[in-house]
Amino acid sequence: AFIVTDNCIRCKYTDCVEVCPVDCFYEGPNFLAINPDECIDCALCEPECPAGAIFSEDELPDGQEVFVELNQELSLIWPNITEQKDALPDAAEWDGVEDKLEHLER
Ligand code: SF4
Ligand code: F3S
Repeated sequence: AFIVTDNCIRCKYTDCVEVCPVDCFYEGPNFLAINPDECIDCALCEPECPAGAIFSEDELPDGQEVFVELNQELSLIWPNITEQKDALPDAAEWDGVEDKLEHLER
């Protein structure tokens, strides 16, 4: 599956949801999660993310392993999102800030 990782937090650009052929993105307050059981590994979302936050599980950057479980867990409790919306208001300031996990809202 593909995994949404740290840099999505507090940015949530949502470009990714527009291209997903199986609509497997789920929306929390400041992060999106991919349901790994629904993702068909098409890779279309990866280049769409302005924050570069989406990776194949096989090519996860070091330190991002915790997001495998988080995508699984959160995608089961959050609502589905299939249409792009405005990014969070201060997305540009948070884009590229490291280790945003402490800011993840549920
Ligand atoms: Fe959707 Fe394809 Fe991205 Fe999986 S890899 S989340 S199926 S766009
Ligand atoms: Fe997050 Fe990137 Fe999608 S910032 S909402 S994974 S476009």
